[in-house]
Amino acid sequence: MSAFEKLQVRGKRVLLRLDLNVPLNKRKVADATRILAALPTINSLRDRGAKLVICSHLGRPKAQSVPALSLEPVAAWLAEHLDTEVVFAHETVGEDVEFLSKDLQPGGILVVENLRFHKGEKSGDPEFAKQLARLADVYVNDAFGVLHREHASVVGVGQFLEEKALGPLIQREVDALARLVKGAVKPFVGILGGAKVSDKIGVMQSLLERCDAVLIGGAMAYTFLLAQGQATGKSLVEPDRIRLAKRLMDDAAKRGVKILLPVDHIAVGPDSESPTVVEDLGTDMVGFDIGPQTASNYAEIISRANSIFWNGPMGMFEKDAFAGGTKAVAEALAGSRAYSVVGGGDSAAAINKMGLADKVSHISTGGGASLQYMEGNGLPGLQALGARRKQ
Ligand code: 3PG
Repeated sequence: MSAFEKLQVRGKRVLLRLDLNVPLNKRKVADATRILAALPTINSLRDRGAKLVICSHLGRPKAQSVPALSLEPVAAWLAEHLDTEVVFAHETVGEDVEFLSKDLQPGGILVVENLRFHKGEKSGDPEFAKQLARLADVYVNDAFGVLHREHASVVGVGQFLEEKALGPLIQREVDALARLVKGAVKPFVGILGGAKVSDKIGVMQSLLERCDAVLIGGAMAYTFLLAQGQATGKSLVEPDRIRLAKRLMDDAAKRGVKILLPVDHIAVGPDSESPTVVEDLGTDMVGFDIGPQTASNYAEIISRANSIFWNGPMGMFEKDAFAGGTKAVAEALAGSRAYSVVGGGDSAAAINKMGLADKVSHISTGGGASLQYMEGNGLPGLQALGARRKQ
């Protein structure tokens, strides 16, 4: 039995920290993936007679009230989909909210306003954590997406409540990632994309220690190509990361890890109307996606892998003309028998959009948190609740 299952919650108020940071459109939930991932936890606690006080952040409101980032639409989504009354508190903490929490019946739900409307959340202020703790008797953290943040609701509240546990979503996420960090079945292939090398240094170093091959796409690939002395035209590069890219490639060579870079690109030239496939970006082409030969090279390696970790799109996939590379990688992943984990963020959005989510072993609900876990540096939110480091 897990600590979560052992919690005695009947008739008690449970402060449930979730990651309900979902995209909104016209004050309605536009993508409910993260809420759906939290439903088993909500249902389990309600079935066990808990009174739920749900808290979350939404967006990055910089310690002030931003109506467009209110959690009210999320509370409305829960009321509609759980077919139950959900009370929404327009404040996050304070006497009125405490009153509402004490008014709950077993199985009842109170959603409090966006944690990040308060400066104490991000600064990890113990006073704010204490105010949150006053809303409940038990604390459950199941917000995987913020485990890398030392925020009050993540690392602070637990100090003020005796009864506490990590939730089952976090357990599933950590188990999935630990399987790759602790002992992935070889060949292990890492796939990294996105705009910046600087965002992926830690995870790249960790993958070089564990993988047999690392496939690189997205704009970060151009910095690596430049480091090899190849032409990158006017593509996005990080000149101050060229030495780092060289060092990573040298390290890979010493370890016998293959780093694969694009051999062709979908690019736009100064005079061209539409994107074209080129092998050489020359002096003025701008690359926006990996080309078909690269996509086929990557698909081939993916098909032979037994373990895969993917983070970051291969190109500017939001535009159809530059979505081909990301789509090819997603399809190769979906067709592979490997144990495959997609590390949240844009790559998760891409695979969801393509309807291939059920074809991969695990899609993380947290981008930054899954990267930090893969880096092997532990996560403050796990440590705060005394979870043993799995790495
Ligand atoms: C996410 O979207 O990755 C999580 O909700 C964390 O959000 P943050 O990067 O704003 O802390």
